[in-house]
Order: sequence, then structure tokens, then C-alpha cells
Amino acid sequence: MNPTIDLLNSHRSIRRFTDAPVPADTLTTIITAAQAAASSSFLQGVTIIRVTDSEKRVALREVANGQRYVEEAPEFLVFCADLSRSMRCCEMHGGEAAKGLTEQFIIATVDTALYAQNMVVAAESVGLGICYIGALRNDPARVTELLDLPQQVYPVFGLCLGFPDQDPEVKPRLPVPVVLKENSYSTDGEPEAIAAYDEEMRAYYASRTDNQKAQGWSEQMAGLLGREGRPHMLAFLQGQGFVKR
Ligand SMILES: Cc1cc2nc3c(=O)[nH]c(=O)nc-3n(C[C@H](O)[C@H](O)[C@H](O)COP(=O)(O)O)c2cc1C
Repeated sequence: MNPTIDLLNSHRSIRRFTDAPVPADTLTTIITAAQAAASSSFLQGVTIIRVTDSEKRVALREVANGQRYVEEAPEFLVFCADLSRSMRCCEMHGGEAAKGLTEQFIIATVDTALYAQNMVVAAESVGLGICYIGALRNDPARVTELLDLPQQVYPVFGLCLGFPDQDPEVKPRLPVPVVLKENSYSTDGEPEAIAAYDEEMRAYYASRTDNQKAQGWSEQMAGLLGREGRPHMLAFLQGQGFVKR
């Protein structure tokens, strides 16, 4: 199609990296590209913590169920939604920030995700590989303590970064009609389309090189949503000053 779209369509998460470091200027370049993302009300509500301390890496790996790439990746970045900076600006100008609004939480979380994905695309465009680590939210209080995160800041996810030492297959996505609707929401044709996608996913999982399994996508969703995932998040977020009203 064009190089940008080809790049986006060739994304796959990388979980094994070479020892080659990410050059400092490359890191700066891709973080600058991250910052170019659109930002709701121009809040720029994100702080990225680059974790170079090996003891902190070990601790973060433990939080993330022992996922070894958290410790081994040449770079590990923690993307934090950050309202505290803008609130300090409010105080700087003699104001008092309204706190705890769910809308503010959405703004900062969306900003963080947009920044991260911009950075991911920039990284992949220069031959780097990435893996997001949502598993940091297994114990977000521990991450907050390890990284000295203040009130109005929370760790949304981590990101492993480095040069790929594997070449995994691209994972098929849902067919476009399942996610694109016109004028109103509809589930017309969804069961058939998902059944066909389940077949495609089963074939993908059976044939891929790493971590083969016999499962369709809808079964995976049943497993995921059939249990309460990280029910501690509401209390944690409220403790950090978010989603109180
Ligand atoms: C916010 C977020 C959190 C994720 N957390 C993890 C994680 O903790 N560990 C992991 O191995 N992969 C994680 N992933 C990667 C997904 O499993 C992966 O993107 C998905 O299966 C699609 O595969 P692909 O990225 O290779 O296309 C995460 C992805 C996102 C977007």
C-alpha cells in the first residue's frame, strides 16, 4: 500500500531481544515522536520512566508474573498517566485543581496510550521491536512505590524495547466488518464472522513457531472476561487520587 501502512500491518510483539543497546539518540528520537501525538486539551498527561536500575527491573519482572523480557530487554519504559504536572501548573497560577474526576482519568489514560503507540510505530520504523507489559497492573501499588510515583500519577503499562532476536508471525486481526459499523451499532453477521475468525486463529496458533495452542479467539475472550481481572484497580486508582467521582 505505502511504507507507513505496510509498517503498521507488519507489527508483532517481540519477546526476545539481542544484546545490542538502543542508541541514546534513537531513544530520544522515538520519544520525541511519541510526544507528537495528539493530546486531549493539550494536557500531555504522560510521564515515561526509563528503568535502568537492575534491581528495579528484577522487582518489576516479579510484578509481571516473572515475564523474563521485562528484565532482559535492552530498554524498559513505564508509561504513566500523569495529571500531577498540570495540577502543579494550576497551583503555580494560584488556582486549586479539581481532583478525582473520571473524565480527567480518561484524558490522561488516552494520552498515555496515544503517546506509547506513536513511540511503538516510530521504534518499529527503525527496526526495533516492542512488547507492552500490562502485567505491571498485577501490583500497581508496588510499581508506584518502586518508581516513587506521586498522587495523580499511575502506571498504565510497561514497554520492552530492543532489537528483535526472533521473527514471529503477524497475528491475524478481526475482520473489518466486525469492528466497522455504519450509522448504528449492529451485531448482524457477527456470529458467522467470528466463527470464521476463530478458525483462522486456531490455524495461526497451531502453525506458529512459539507458544502453540489449540484455541479460537472467542474462547480466549470467554476465558478473559469469565473471570475478574485485577479487581484491585479501582481501590488502587482511588488511592492515587483518580476516579473518585
Ligand atoms: C496494553 C497492553 C498490555 C499488554 N501486556 C502484555 C503483557 O503483560 N505481556 C505480554 O507478553 N504481552 C502483552 N501485550 C501484548 C499482547 O498480548 C499482544 O499485543 C496481542 O496478543 C497481539 O499480538 P501482537 O502484538 O503480536 O500483534 C500487551 C498489549 C497491550 C496493548
